[in-house]
Amino acid sequence: MKKTILKLPAFIFSLACIAASGHALAEENPITGKDKHMGVATCASSVCHGKPAPDANSYALLNEYRTWSREDLHSKAYKILFNAESKRMAKNLGLASAHTADICLDCHADNVPQSQRGPKFVIRDGVGCEACHGGSEKWLDSHYKKGVTHAENLAAGMYPTESPKPRAEMCLSCHLGTKDKFATHRIMGAGHPRLAFELETFTANQPAHYVVDQDYLERKGQIESVTMWVAGVYYTAKQTLELYNSHLLTANGMIPELSFYDCHACHHPMDKKTWRQTSIEVGLKPGDLRLNDAALQMLVGIAYIRDQEGAQRLLQLSRDLHVASRKDVNGLRSSAKAALAQLASMEGALLDRNYNNNEITSLRQRILSKSAAGQYRDYTSAEQAFLGVETLTLALNQSERYSAQMDSFYASLASESAFQQGRFASVAKNLLSTMYP
Ligand code: HEC
Ligand code: HEC
Ligand code: HEC
Ligand code: HEC
Repeated sequence: MKKTILKLPAFIFSLACIAASGHALAEENPITGKDKHMGVATCASSVCHGKPAPDANSYALLNEYRTWSREDLHSKAYKILFNAESKRMAKNLGLASAHTADICLDCHADNVPQSQRGPKFVIRDGVGCEACHGGSEKWLDSHYKKGVTHAENLAAGMYPTESPKPRAEMCLSCHLGTKDKFATHRIMGAGHPRLAFELETFTANQPAHYVVDQDYLERKGQIESVTMWVAGVYYTAKQTLELYNSHLLTANGMIPELSFYDCHACHHPMDKKTWRQTSIEVGLKPGDLRLNDAALQMLVGIAYIRDQEGAQRLLQLSRDLHVASRKDVNGLRSSAKAALAQLASMEGALLDRNYNNNEITSLRQRILSKSAAGQYRDYTSAEQAFLGVETLTLALNQSERYSAQMDSFYASLASESAFQQGRFASVAKNLLSTMYP
């Protein structure tokens, strides 16, 4: 795992918290929406978002293009399809080239159909403004005018990127994948890196082309980092369960889609026995393949804070899912549907209100206790546990106080191939006793 570089919390404004779920989930995301994408060049003129430095007279910085083109990897997402790694992947997959293949462009560019590309649209812009903010056809001419409200922009088709649920769904469409675009194990096998994602950390790591200041809060409301984190975990679990019900599960005939499973279950050296036996706890037998349920398990932990009964039911349903996964496809699919229904019934409790300090403190204690007890045994779950603890510590304004301890917690995850569950657990144990003496 790469080192995360979380920002320190911005100055806290004494503004009343606006509920985090200000907007209903948009039915269409920037990629499935039907409006035309006018192209980055349309946004980037020097009188619009292409200024060399922030503009003090505007609520938006207006140098967004500069930040995106110089610092944000999304502007390089298309270009990397020409590098040696991509070329090798294309060759392994039998593609003419990576930069012309939809299976790469769907995530590495704003690959909307030709009919939705405006006059200045060019595919080589990669993941451009409208890949996240939605096609601007219907709001381009109005969104900067005096008196036009954010609500009016949204009504004209601008995507509500500020809102946790839609943001999670949009980022995850590429960082986890959907039934229509997915980094399958075949693509991984050809050399694609494993996709790891956590919404709050990735939000912090994307070079910000906006500032959350007083007027931002007035226009868009305050969205707490912890709510953002929970939304990310919730949608990762939800989209993962939905994928089990897609064609992807059985697209390879006898062998299920291996990207749905814990990568390190297969990819670890045999001369070092790990004896993780995680599988047995969830009703699997030794040697059975285990679905990657990192997000679902994290969500169970979060849910205990607000809806214990729901959390218990979800835990049981996740066990049913594992048991069903070794029997037959239809059983797995119906178990996934049952878990999805349970998730839906808990969404309000988990996401409609921001988390207060008591909740954040006990959430962190819970994750650390489970880590110390060795319950996050696979790398992917341990990684999610670390990122959760980091986000919660930051939200409690304690990052500086615990920075040395957090560094060694991180160090226990630094190498995927040399990950030792026991070390992760013992560092977590130390952290637990320091933070909760
Ligand atoms: C489901 C979306 C998705 C698909 C499909 C996909 N990618 Fe990616 N790819 C990503 C994401 C997201 C990352 C960044 C991962 C990270 O750093 O967390 C990435 C990273 C990469 C990287 C490493 C980038 C770097 O900066 O080191 C390469 C190379 C790459 N992809 C090439 C390809 C090629 C070639 C294809 C087609 C065969 C492809 N990708 C298909 C989403 C996708
Ligand atoms: C990978 C996704 C992504 C890309 C690409 C992207 N943005 Fe954003 N943008 C965001 C997010 C997330 C926010 C913060 C939430 C919000 O305010 O909507 C944001 C916020 C903004 C804001 C709001 C500032 C405010 O004060 O309200 C503007 C303006 C903006 N982006 C313009 C651009 C422009 C112009 C580009 C292209 C040069 C661009 N964005 C590319 C995700 C993206
Ligand atoms: C259209 C697909 C797409 C969408 C939507 C998208 N991303 Fe990405 N993202 C990518 C790809 C592809 C890369 C890898 C680019 C590269 O390495 O050149 C990437 C890279 C990143 C990175 C850098 C990761 C690293 O390894 O350093 C961050 C951070 C990130 N994305 C955050 C976000 C966030 C936050 C959102 C939602 C607001 C988002 N992305 C939405 C495709 C997407
Ligand atoms: C059920 C076991 C299994 C799971 C789970 C699994 N893989 Fe694989 N993986 C394989 C096999 C088998 C190969 C082919 C090995 C070969 O060609 O020698 C392979 C090949 C690969 C390769 C190419 C390696 C090479 O040296 O050629 C990569 C990269 C890879 N997998 C990544 C992943 C990632 C990332 C995940 C999780 C998202 C994952 N795998 C999950 C069994 C698995």
